[in-house]
Amino acid sequence: DASDIEKGTYPHYMLKEIDEQPLVIRKIVQAYQNEEGKLTIDYNISEAVSEADRVYIVACGTSYHAGLIGKQFIEKMAKIPVEVHVASEFVYNMPILSEKPLFIFISQSGETADSRAVLVAIKELGYKSLTITNVQGSTLSREADFTMLLHAGPEIAVASTKAYTAQIAVLGILANVVAEFREQQVDFDLVKELGIIATVMEALCDSKEQFEEIAREYLAVTRNCFFIGRSLDYYVGLEGALKLKEISYIQAEGFAGGELKHGTIALIEEGTPIIALSTQNEVNLSIRGNVKEVVARGANPCIITMKGLEEEDDRFVIPEVHELLSPLVSVIPLQLIAYYAALQRECDVDKPRNLAKSVTVE
Ligand code: G6P
Repeated sequence: DASDIEKGTYPHYMLKEIDEQPLVIRKIVQAYQNEEGKLTIDYNISEAVSEADRVYIVACGTSYHAGLIGKQFIEKMAKIPVEVHVASEFVYNMPILSEKPLFIFISQSGETADSRAVLVAIKELGYKSLTITNVQGSTLSREADFTMLLHAGPEIAVASTKAYTAQIAVLGILANVVAEFREQQVDFDLVKELGIIATVMEALCDSKEQFEEIAREYLAVTRNCFFIGRSLDYYVGLEGALKLKEISYIQAEGFAGGELKHGTIALIEEGTPIIALSTQNEVNLSIRGNVKEVVARGANPCIITMKGLEEEDDRFVIPEVHELLSPLVSVIPLQLIAYYAALQRECDVDKPRNLAKSVTVE
């Protein structure tokens, strides 16, 4: 219950929860480590996922955005095909399922009615399910065959922050352990990389003034804002746009850099803020090309990049982490920018209008 959890010296739960992210990552690593320090999950979960010919991730909102990253993890590490679905669409438009599907429900609260409706439907068909949730004993946890917990501690602010990074970390651990189970080669040490992630998260949380400044410069008066990126950066951009919409009421959208020219570029006007994420070597040059295209049409670009890829006019350089895990850190600038934009526009950060922390109606 919100009243039981102290904000301490924080003005808002959201800021406290953003700052808790490094600690949550360390807790998750501990929770999923065995005595030898090796990552481990329930054997039955490894087996169920490994035996699936396709994984279906079902979620809503921020949890859906975490699912998009999870798909990349499971496909790249464990080499199992994955589809990600918005729960409310899945029930009425069920895709043709594979022969041995395994369903993963991602839900901070474990109570989201849209996701539960899918769980009920696939259980009737006799399929297995895993719920990844922050709340032990929640409906989705009780009704699924398996549960993996987020260990993020209670999340009070309506806009989800630490649950998103916790979901991504847990999905990474799941993918890593299943990869091993299936004897797939993973060429990095996830425990070590998550340690680096936690340290970089701390550095980002210590750079608040810079994100406050970016919010002031780009978002103080604008009526809209676009986030662009490619590959993982695109998915993180979707989450950055959602954060900004939820708490600052600025009309924000995330776009795949390559799609800009197919329509969205028509929206660019003099001074339109564009937040571009570029943390992936493979797409760095193409996204910078997209930035040039929008700048030529008057956009006001804010490039957030990763060490090693930086160029002269970039607004922020994130210290280097393993590329596949970059969403865990690149989302933090976007969370903080949204937070400060909402604050500067005098919005109710923790309790935005029209939104509920968990939506228990379909
Ligand atoms: C609500 C919240 C969102 C959240 C979504 C899914 O709409 O406002 O922040 O992402 O539900 O919630 P869940 O608990 O299933 O992750």
